[in-house]
Amino acid sequence: MGVKEILEGGKLGREEIISLLEATGDEKQLLFRKANEIKLQEIGNRVHFRGLVEFSNICGKDCYYCGIRRSNSEVQRYNVTDEQILDAARFAHENGYGSLVLQAGELESPAYTTRIEKLLKEIKKLSKGKLGITLSLGEQVEEVYERWFKAGAHRYLLRIESSNPDLYQRYHPSDTLHDYARRLTSLKTLQRIGYQTGTGVMIGLPFQNSGDLADDLLFMKHFDIDMVGMGPYIEHQHTPLFQYRHELLPIEQRFDLALKMIATLRILMKDINIAAATALQAIDPLGREKAVKVGANIIMPNITPGKYRNDYALYENKPCVDEEPEECKNCLDVRIQLADGEIGYNEWGDSKHYQKRLAGK
Ligand code: 5AD
Ligand code: FES
Repeated sequence: MGVKEILEGGKLGREEIISLLEATGDEKQLLFRKANEIKLQEIGNRVHFRGLVEFSNICGKDCYYCGIRRSNSEVQRYNVTDEQILDAARFAHENGYGSLVLQAGELESPAYTTRIEKLLKEIKKLSKGKLGITLSLGEQVEEVYERWFKAGAHRYLLRIESSNPDLYQRYHPSDTLHDYARRLTSLKTLQRIGYQTGTGVMIGLPFQNSGDLADDLLFMKHFDIDMVGMGPYIEHQHTPLFQYRHELLPIEQRFDLALKMIATLRILMKDINIAAATALQAIDPLGREKAVKVGANIIMPNITPGKYRNDYALYENKPCVDEEPEECKNCLDVRIQLADGEIGYNEWGDSKHYQKRLAGK
């Protein structure tokens, strides 16, 4: 079946998804247009902000793709103070961002759990409950997820990275810290506790083909996920996966594939939140805006205190590391308008999918 027929027809199975992901030229444009149409119909043109605070790059894990992995001794490690995190939260609140994302390298300890719990309560207090909070702090035991939920976090992002267990294993060390089964259990636990649950994958990894990516999208669908953040894989010279750089698609094609993934996911899951990943902007200065035009509805402006931004380098060529949050805001305002979007200031912008899931629809 051709792309046109697939887009007109009903069923979107593995084979059809592969055809969409492999579309080029006019067919690709058809896919992009269809995705945009569906987005406007289902959720409108509003884009919501999640102010991103990357508060520490200290990480206990050693993922083979990630620039801040434990074994990378070239990284200057940092840990933003609680006061600075609260300042960033205040900035987000006062500037109408609606929500905040707390992200960091992955750590598990009782002291860490308590630190986050206290911060959550403080942020709720300083914003009088108005600021929505998303956590992106990796795998934790159930009790920790529960404590953080009770303290005020209501969304959690935990990327599955690759839904194929064999591939997952090739991108991570073989030990209990990096176990696919635990990642999956964690996602299920988050969903059961009541978090709006987000996941995502990297696109254009070595050894990965369009069939794997189609499976990733179907995984999100079967998991009934509420939000997705996915972006192109970008090699980092101080990581083990760097040795496979000659096997990668050229970077422009990885970018293009990421846009096709977003567009296809919008058609597959019409009412979820889809973020325009920062990694897109690392490749193309207008990357996030292009994602908004093909189905994305969430942007995560970086509001990490300036001097630390350069050190949260998961991949190379990270964008906007020199800008202060104020400049970012003005810049984004214009950019989103250019992409025919409108920013939903002071709104949480929860995924419609989640609202329906809660109402049992
Ligand atoms: N390229 C692109 N994305 C990356 N991430 C980590 N390393 C890279 C990389 N080299 C993504 C992972 C992780 C998120 C925080 O950043 O998907 O979940
Ligand atoms: Fe950060 Fe433009 S988005 S300066």
